[in-house]
Amino acid sequence: MSNGPDENGGFSRRGFLKGIGVGSVASGLMAPFAPLRGAEDPNIRGPGEIPVTLKINGQAKKLNIEPRVTLLDALRNRLDLTGAKKVCDRATCGACTVLLDGNPVYSCTLLAVEAEGHEITTVEGIGTPTNLNEVQKAFIKHDAQQCGFCTPGFIVASTAFVRKNPNATPDQVRAGLGGNLCRCGTYAGMLLAVADAAKAQKGVA
Ligand code: FES
Ligand code: FES
Repeated sequence: MSNGPDENGGFSRRGFLKGIGVGSVASGLMAPFAPLRGAEDPNIRGPGEIPVTLKINGQAKKLNIEPRVTLLDALRNRLDLTGAKKVCDRATCGACTVLLDGNPVYSCTLLAVEAEGHEITTVEGIGTPTNLNEVQKAFIKHDAQQCGFCTPGFIVASTAFVRKNPNATPDQVRAGLGGNLCRCGTYAGMLLAVADAAKAQKGVA
């Protein structure tokens, strides 16, 4: 098949399309791109990877990430801290809860760069299999889980709650943990567990 003029002096369809393609590329190369906004502003970081240091569970972790990366994705995909779970990815379910300076936050809607300079605590930093905290012990005692997918987020949120609300009643626990959802519906056991842990926090268990 010819790409040039045919025997009748015309152009084949393939040659015509190829000509258009080459012309488009050429004009694209010649057309200057508009400079990215902020390219000359030293106060704007990115959009490529930038160095970020996160203090997680007492340890400084250095990584290079794009500024658009969420704290949850940085934890799970770059630092192998997979305790925080991605479920809704839109600040609804609480499965991704971590502590920022002791306060529970949804790590799916916080940029990793925003967490720089703060103390980040994940479920991995809250207790270990051989050294469970009061909330974890109470969850086991009350059999407060089924599939367990929501559990890390509940453990983190509950730990922050009992620290601030020692001896909370089940009603206060229910209100305090309203930002976490369990699709298996193990709320009854969790309420008892967190109320127990709150008492233990106050030293009256
Ligand atoms: S995954 Fe973050 S709130 Fe649901
Ligand atoms: S135990 Fe399954 S989602 Fe909560």
